Amino acid sequence: MAKPRILVVDDEVNARTGLKSLLEEEGFEVEEAADGEEGLKRLSSFAPAVVLTDVRMPNMDGLTLLRKAREAGSDAVFVVMTAFGSVEMAVDAMRAGAENYLLKPLDLKAVLVVIEKALEKRDLTRDTAALRARVRDRFSFPNIIGESAELQAVFEVVKQAAPTKATVLILGESGTGKELVAQALHEESPRKDKPFIKVNCAALSESLLESELFGHEKGSFTGAVGRREGRFELADGGTLFLDEVGEISASLQIKLLRVLQTREFERVGGTQTVKVDVRLVAATNRDLAAEVKAGRFREDLYYRLNVVAVTLPSLRQRKSDIPALVSHFIHKFAGAYGKDVKGLAPGTLNALLGHSWPGNVRELENAIERGVVLCKTNELGADDLPPSIRGPRPKDVPAGSLIPGATLAEIEREAILRTLEMVSGSTTRAAELLGISVRKIQYRLKEYGTGAGAPAADSDDELTPEPH
Ligand SMILES: Nc1ncnc2c1ncn2[C@@H]1O[C@H](COP(=O)(O)OP(=O)(O)OP(=O)(O)O)[C@@H](O)[C@H]1O
Ligand SMILES: [Mg+2]
Repeated sequence: MAKPRILVVDDEVNARTGLKSLLEEEGFEVEEAADGEEGLKRLSSFAPAVVLTDVRMPNMDGLTLLRKAREAGSDAVFVVMTAFGSVEMAVDAMRAGAENYLLKPLDLKAVLVVIEKALEKRDLTRDTAALRARVRDRFSFPNIIGESAELQAVFEVVKQAAPTKATVLILGESGTGKELVAQALHEESPRKDKPFIKVNCAALSESLLESELFGHEKGSFTGAVGRREGRFELADGGTLFLDEVGEISASLQIKLLRVLQTREFERVGGTQTVKVDVRLVAATNRDLAAEVKAGRFREDLYYRLNVVAVTLPSLRQRKSDIPALVSHFIHKFAGAYGKDVKGLAPGTLNALLGHSWPGNVRELENAIERGVVLCKTNELGADDLPPSIRGPRPKDVPAGSLIPGATLAEIEREAILRTLEMVSGSTTRAAELLGISVRKIQYRLKEYGTGAGAPAADSDDELTPEPH
């Protein structure tokens, strides 16, 4: 594969050449330019995938370069590099269409994460085939189940961001696994033996949350009998997870912004400045970009939190993960309740695929827990599911018979669902047994999940065969 091309634009010659040689060591092809004007010329001759540009430069500044590049039809992904303390400029650049920003002095790891992210973004928009190929090298986390391309793409970002100190913002509907991802970011980091501290920002009033986060000095308010360390201090050396970050008040947003910029703060009622080394992970099920637009969330704080974004797909967007999740939960709850439930009865997977799962994985987990409790045999059946999920009773097809009069698509569907039920939901195992690709099974499960009845005759053509 060709090396990804990166253009470095900076008027400081040492900064520029230093970055160039570091990036070359990492396997990128790099060219440099001393200002926006030169950058613009290089842009057309070199056609980089990513442009890392300084903002303030003689002749032509970084923002003008970005604007002119777009006018000229370049789709290079822009990342601006700006000095500590001029985040406003970074915000302007993001508004103008930059993908991300980096603070100077640069941290090589942060640079690499941002470049990877930029390249991935480009892949997503330009070259889904290449992404698919990369996704084939599966990532896995011990507690997070997901073989779908959607979740694999999430895992890839998580694996890359975990070892760094970059702040991560996790977005997604309720029950999609945001907390699991936050934990994985900690467990896969060099901080894993230090504390992982969670704060639910929605659960506390503004003043309580403030003293919870930053701690307080003795006598700072009625009831503050002694000095108390806040969560930021408790998380020193480790990771602080701010859950439901979309809920924090305007005045706390300002305070949080300051800590993010300086990593220092004062306890409530105190004057002494406390310095901490904390990796921040935040999550929300709100559309934070929309909250910013509506003026309810500070834009500068949003960009500070959103250094690396991880968006968890809803379960209905990745129904091909349902079989493996179900198997995982059956195993978990059979163990917990001491029951001998081994798998699904015929037809049950069909019902599970047909449901839209507004509560996502949490709803599925609860449904399986209930099912395991109610189940009277060693196979969980549709009758053990909550009534809202059961759906219409499936046609009773005798196992093992090829139904005369059924269409090939119906027979295929039956074969795929029955096989999955037999192999504990593993799409990989089912694919081996059926002699078809994992992608094809995942694709079909998606179809069944949307209730698409008509067989997509030529759908194979869009699918890349699995390498073996
Ligand atoms: N991919 C997954 N594999 C296994 N279990 C999962 C997965 N995703 C979610 N779960 C389980 O589903 C439940 C909900 O997940 P989690 O608490 O992480 O969701 P959340 O996105 O934080 O939801 P909320 O916004 O409501 O807080 C948990 O019990 C979690 O263990
Ligand atoms: Mg949560």
